[in-house]
Amino acid sequence: MNEYEQANKNRWNELATLHFKSDFYHLKAWRNGGSSLLPIETKEVGDVSGKKLLHLQCHFGMDTLSFARMGASVTGVDFSDEAIDLGNQLASDLNLDGKFICENVLELRDSPHLKGEKFDIIFTSYGVLCWLSDLSKWSKVISHYLKPGGFFYIIDSHPFTNGFDNENETTHWKPIIPYFTDKVFRYDIEYSYTGQKISQGAQASYEWFHTTSEIINNLIKAGLKIEFFNEHPVSSWRQFAFMHSKDGKTWELNEDKVDLPLSFSIKACK
Ligand SMILES: C[S@@+](CC[C@H](N)C(=O)[O-])C[C@H]1O[C@@H](n2cnc3c(N)ncnc32)[C@H](O)[C@@H]1O
Repeated sequence: MNEYEQANKNRWNELATLHFKSDFYHLKAWRNGGSSLLPIETKEVGDVSGKKLLHLQCHFGMDTLSFARMGASVTGVDFSDEAIDLGNQLASDLNLDGKFICENVLELRDSPHLKGEKFDIIFTSYGVLCWLSDLSKWSKVISHYLKPGGFFYIIDSHPFTNGFDNENETTHWKPIIPYFTDKVFRYDIEYSYTGQKISQGAQASYEWFHTTSEIINNLIKAGLKIEFFNEHPVSSWRQFAFMHSKDGKTWELNEDKVDLPLSFSIKACK
């Protein structure tokens, strides 16, 4: 693991523990049943019953285990050992068909935990690509673990609006990161998106910005066939101050704002 990944792992280890205690994820209500998946991915992924599903960057596993409740046999992968422990604890507490393994997604190809395994569905969602430096490696991992006839699904924040200021600018669209950049960006963040304070030792983290074509072309190069690419005017979190939520789970732009895409989804088959 390089220095950037190590810093990100420290940060996510702390966030996993903090998030597990926050109201943001509605964990208490979810324990009693139901799904943490949002309507877009629930509809676009479709029926998962009887399928083997691999969830990449699963955090502490609520979405992963929601798929288990829908009849899939699930494996969640994350490089935060705290998140993985919490995921395994949830699966055991709730008696759900799920296991969680601690791995760097970019190194997953050689994982001893997944030796010989192949999956019908590989899923990843919301806040994932910005943590990955190398989408060529990532897409090869996906292709390697997919069964022929299986599919990969991603929903994440949109590369176009990812580069707009969402920290200091509260009223206008203001691009601050070049759309085309290979650089790694350091952030020192005091508060998580859940509103919880992060301790000083875990504040530094490193992110990468990927273009839409980079995402799509890497999947194609790894041997996948794109079935759809969709763009959505909603986000899974309050990415910009000028957004509102009607249901407390998805966020849309205030009416006076120029409509720009906030998230995208791709389904790609092997
Ligand atoms: C924003 S969270 C994803 C949240 C997820 N959609 C959910 O709602 O639970 C990003 C996750 O990516 C994980 N992560 C970041 N870089 C990773 C890497 N290189 N390998 C594996 N997991 C990674 C973090 O530990 C974190 O759990």
